Amino acid sequence: MSQGAKGTSRLMIIAWLAAMVFIAVMFFGGSSDDSVEVATDSATLERIQPVGEVSVESAVASTGGTERSGEELYARCQGCHGTGAMGAPKFGSLADWAPRIERGIDDVLQVAIAGTGAMPPKGGCSDCSDNELKSVIQYMMESTK
Ligand code: HEC
Repeated sequence: MSQGAKGTSRLMIIAWLAAMVFIAVMFFGGSSDDSVEVATDSATLERIQPVGEVSVESAVASTGGTERSGEELYARCQGCHGTGAMGAPKFGSLADWAPRIERGIDDVLQVAIAGTGAMPPKGGCSDCSDNELKSVIQYMMESTK
């Protein structure tokens, strides 16, 4: 009985030592491996980052520099001009647009930029450029043909 107990405690000490060695190897060996990995990661990130910044900037610049089409932007005007709500000249209605086509697009554009009656300035499309607004008006005028 006591022999067996002694054997068990010796085994436990060996197991404990083995565990300590294992933990020590894991701790020191593992942490140095990790730091190498982290260093590689940040070095890689630093190398990639400038390229990523440049490509994001050029993407923003190219979308900012490209004009949206009248057809695309019409979605911003459709709420009123699609139905003729509040007396808005209705999309596709020659009766509504003819007098405005007669006045000329530049005059009509100036009115649209300033806002008129129930329509807010720029028809509510505050991020639309004058040229983009002109494209939408052209698109609506052409809808009458
Ligand atoms: C909130 C509703 C509303 C929205 C949104 C709206 N409009 Fe209008 N729009 C009107 C109304 C109402 C009139 C008529 C105003 C009047 O003659 O009293 C009008 C008139 C116009 C006219 C005629 C101006 C003139 O000289 O007679 C143009 C051009 C026009 N809108 C363009 C646009 C464009 C482009 C957009 C979208 C970017 C837009 N509108 C969005 C309500 C709207």
